[in-house]
Amino acid sequence: MKISVIGTGYVGLATATVFAELGNEVIGADIDKEKIEKLNKGIMPIYEPGLKELVERNIKKKRLAFTNDNKTAIEHADIIFICVGTPPKDNGETDLKYVEKVALEIASTIKSYKVIVHKSTVPVETGEKVKKIIEANIKKNVDFDVVSNPEFLREGSAIKDTMEPERIVIGTDSKRASEMMKKLYSQIKAPMIITDVRSAELIKHASNSFLATKISFINAIARICELAGADVGKVAEGMGYDKRIGSSFLNAGIGYGGFCFPKDVQAFIKIAESYGYDFQMLKATHSINEQQKKFFVEKIKKALGNPNNKKIGVLGLAFKPNTDDMRFAPSVYILQELQRLGAIINAYDPEAMGKAKSLLNSINFCKEPYDVCINAEALLILTEWNEFKELDLEKIKSLMKHPIIIDGRNMYDPKLLREKGFRYFSIGRKDVV
Ligand code: UDX
Repeated sequence: MKISVIGTGYVGLATATVFAELGNEVIGADIDKEKIEKLNKGIMPIYEPGLKELVERNIKKKRLAFTNDNKTAIEHADIIFICVGTPPKDNGETDLKYVEKVALEIASTIKSYKVIVHKSTVPVETGEKVKKIIEANIKKNVDFDVVSNPEFLREGSAIKDTMEPERIVIGTDSKRASEMMKKLYSQIKAPMIITDVRSAELIKHASNSFLATKISFINAIARICELAGADVGKVAEGMGYDKRIGSSFLNAGIGYGGFCFPKDVQAFIKIAESYGYDFQMLKATHSINEQQKKFFVEKIKKALGNPNNKKIGVLGLAFKPNTDDMRFAPSVYILQELQRLGAIINAYDPEAMGKAKSLLNSINFCKEPYDVCINAEALLILTEWNEFKELDLEKIKSLMKHPIIIDGRNMYDPKLLREKGFRYFSIGRKDVV
């Protein structure tokens, strides 16, 4: 099938690449000229396992091309995916200006029937809004349908999640559009939910908000565990065996970050408000997440004393492992707060230092993990990259001024750290002092 994807961010790029890999003729379009030039040369704008190889292969096979010209992309396709950014406004609502602009371009370009699909997380009724914009601006009497097909991919496993989704959600009232979508997804084995546009839009919001709530719930339990002298790891394990609860997304830590959960939670609170519902539970999810970062700074202060003029080593900056994404990473608040208190920060992240440089000033970015430990009065773990699990603890201890580790991701076993002679502080577990 002929597919176009407007917007080549995480969602757009993964969508375009996977549909090309499945044998479709795909054009990805983006207004960012530099990004498109690089993509055509096989240089990826983001770090994502497996993406580069797949893009290169499909460009070579002439199934995938990138352009700056949205109109070319729109004309090419039977199915047009809108994957442009939906950033938050200052008040937390979703800013739909990019989606609206694409809808106008579609209206002025299409000459034959098209299925127009929105994949980004957008407020309920966005599908109807897109439809109205196109109807109001279309020149000839051209038929089209709007479909909501929310994306659930995670950064760091974007390709795998797109190739092997746990479900496919199609929201449309049109038989013709749903048949085309079914054909497009026919090679992917996953349960398919076909529903109306509004329900599809709500599935995405409800899913992300539920997951964020699960994280805030376990972080609240971690706080209680610390007060009660219990171990949140064991509590989560015990809860997770219950299939109704499930064991994933129960890792206590320094709170969720990234470009989805923080903004989607805020947006859903606003959406609910616009319908007259005060979503108190989700407000608590957000507030627990904010508290968690502050609580971690307090933990550091308790372990280290006044951070003024003290050298602190930091392992991990990205909002989670396997990504270079720094957007809404908890590390930003934590490190800025420590700097405000006078701490000197040496940090290392395998992928995110480039992006971190534009968000964090006066940080000494190190070439390798052991460098951050040199003369450090404490070592912070802010992202649980696998390579940190393999580090030589004896070597770390020998390099540090004081062997103190404050682990925001519960990456290490407290017993082992005690044996190795560290003072070790983690989340929702007893301190090793
Ligand atoms: C998320 C959703 O998972 C995905 O379905 C949606 O399409 C986009 O948003 P992503 O932002 O890539 O994906 O990250 P995810 O892996 O879900 O993690 C989000 C945040 O939660 C990270 O900061 C992570 O560190 C944190 N987290 C996750 C926890 O603190 N504890 C957990 O148990 C799980």
